[in-house]
Amino acid sequence: MPPTPSSVSFDPTRGLVVLQTPNSVYAVRIGADGSPRHLHWGEPLDTDALCGLPAAASPAASSFETDPAPDELAPQTGARFGQAGLQVRFADGTRGAQWSFTGHTVRDGELRLHLADRHYPLAAELGYRVRPGSDVIERWVELTHTGADDSGPITVDRLDSAAWTLPALPDYRLNHLVGGWNSEFQLQRDRLPVAETVLTSRRGLTSHHASPWIALDDGTADEEHGEVWSTALAWSGSWRITVHRDPVGRTTWTGGFGHEGLSWTIQPGQSLHTPVFAGLYTPDGFGAASRAWHAHIRTGVLPAPDRDRPVVYNSWEATGFDVDQPGQLSLARVAARLGAELFVLDDGWFGGRTSDRAGLGDWTPRPEAFPDGLRPLADEVHRLGMAFGLWVEPEMVNRDSDLYRAHPDWVVHAATRDATELRNQLMLNFARPEVEAWAHRTLDQLVRDHDVDWFKWDANRVVTEAGWAGHPDPDRLWIDHTRAVHRIMDRLRADHPGLRIEACAGGGGRADLGILARTDQVWTSDNTDPVDRINIQHGFSQLFPAQAMAAWVTDSPNVTTGRTTPLRFRFHVAMAGALGLGGDLTAWSEEELEEAAALVIRYKEIRPLVQHGHQYRLHGPAGLTAVHYASQDDTEHAVLAWRPATRFGHPAPGLPLPALDPAAHYLDIDEGITHSGAALTCQGIDLRLPAGDYASRLIRLRRTV
Ligand code: GLA
Repeated sequence: MPPTPSSVSFDPTRGLVVLQTPNSVYAVRIGADGSPRHLHWGEPLDTDALCGLPAAASPAASSFETDPAPDELAPQTGARFGQAGLQVRFADGTRGAQWSFTGHTVRDGELRLHLADRHYPLAAELGYRVRPGSDVIERWVELTHTGADDSGPITVDRLDSAAWTLPALPDYRLNHLVGGWNSEFQLQRDRLPVAETVLTSRRGLTSHHASPWIALDDGTADEEHGEVWSTALAWSGSWRITVHRDPVGRTTWTGGFGHEGLSWTIQPGQSLHTPVFAGLYTPDGFGAASRAWHAHIRTGVLPAPDRDRPVVYNSWEATGFDVDQPGQLSLARVAARLGAELFVLDDGWFGGRTSDRAGLGDWTPRPEAFPDGLRPLADEVHRLGMAFGLWVEPEMVNRDSDLYRAHPDWVVHAATRDATELRNQLMLNFARPEVEAWAHRTLDQLVRDHDVDWFKWDANRVVTEAGWAGHPDPDRLWIDHTRAVHRIMDRLRADHPGLRIEACAGGGGRADLGILARTDQVWTSDNTDPVDRINIQHGFSQLFPAQAMAAWVTDSPNVTTGRTTPLRFRFHVAMAGALGLGGDLTAWSEEELEEAAALVIRYKEIRPLVQHGHQYRLHGPAGLTAVHYASQDDTEHAVLAWRPATRFGHPAPGLPLPALDPAAHYLDIDEGITHSGAALTCQGIDLRLPAGDYASRLIRLRRTV
């Protein structure tokens, strides 16, 4: 049966909004008080069933009960005591909105509900969008001051993008990602307490420490089974999501940009738009949820999803700040020999940048390192058949730089507070139009001057002492800085269609659907240890597809952890994403170089599966984990399996591959053996892992019938 097409509809007589996707229905009813109230999110229900659901706004049975009908965006009025997604203050001190529903518009899979405050000049549009074939529902809010010029500003203390509500479940579990620098994307599964749980970043970046993605289930879902509701916010600055499980068993969450304590003003005629907060219901477990997010990111987020991510060579772990033309050229030659398709010159090439104490802000080649500029290197890299990439950190400045000496006022600072330096650097205030214009001009010129094909756009500090001296609405910097970063990336891409951008913030500190809408991949973590990477990659894959996950093979022992691992194991882990090389290749033995070149060839063979196929996470027994990538048409398959530590007396049994078709047969391309699909799905494949720790294998299967 063909999947149900996605659609949005509004029935004005019943005040009923229905968003239909292939596997779910999302419904809203306009409450008697004019506020849109959540009705249903989950398995498909028809209109009759939806109309039979309890009335949205029921009067409180007791003066101590809260209003039982969850809001689509709680407006801080009435008997509502949960986290208000909209918090406004008017000039006379009155707080909150009281809505009249003023109509709706439907266009191209997009629905907007129009609301106006009954007394004050405030209007809101709640936006909903569905895309063909996807279960993801995108939501956002636009708030407008509709008053006359002399009506004074409205203060916005909070403007969330959306609130989400679950059906009643016997229990609730919160699945989310936590971490830190070098240990991003650690998947955490916690029973949701009867309380408000806040997930947030107050750093001005998405953050290493928490991600604006959550998934909820009843505590029993696994990779293949169980209902999962998940949401992801498309925002690359500070954010907050508050999940509320109340004592009578209702769970809602509200989320958006900014952290607590910020406030923004809107003047007459002005609007404030939120980022998109996208939601997804999946009936078939965490694996299906991830695959649906991956598909959404490919069809609705990434700017160039169909382009293969190149095999990158990046010089950072090889040379650090000790960068010069001869050294980079010798690395580039070996990288080309190994099959790299892109050479990225990392930190240290510009200004007075011989350490992290100086130079940020001065984006001209360092004469001692590149006496003739970057052209000779860029030309040679191109001649070797690779694209040329450059590391930049445009939002940052060292005090010891010409830029800071010329424009000390451009940094984010509060005039009466010490400006905290992090990694010896300060942050430029991109919310200032002249700073945004300077950054765009500088990057645009770099592309033109040096034939740059790729930027690795880094951000190695977060916001402290946020201030914008002299500005009437200084908290705008939390929104406008991030918007300026997005805008510059968008302009660069539009003006240079071949340019690709990798998002980086000290590793994976800025990974979200907002940054991915204008970049090609994320530098997942500064930690390149393959054992640690298995967990990091597992967490990353919950939301993001493998094509967006940059993964390098680096030297052993690893610079961060000191762990020694075989080259093959390092490759097999990194081959699960967008493969790169990051070590000091000039120190690799001839044997290692040959093995590496063969593994790069192998990666390119499976790249269509890894970067464009469906991903299945597998957990085998005895400390074994694996990822299975299947082509969209189910004919080609690649399985990467890793077992970091062996336990004596625990040989690895077969690894079941449940995504295969039990009725089909599959040829193991490397072994020349054909297996029945039934055996592979149930008994599993014999991995025949090499003895010892850090064992790994790549298995390639082709469907024969
Ligand atoms: C950050 C990045 C690294 C590297 C350094 C350079 O830490 O994540 O990959 O680019 O900066 O200073």
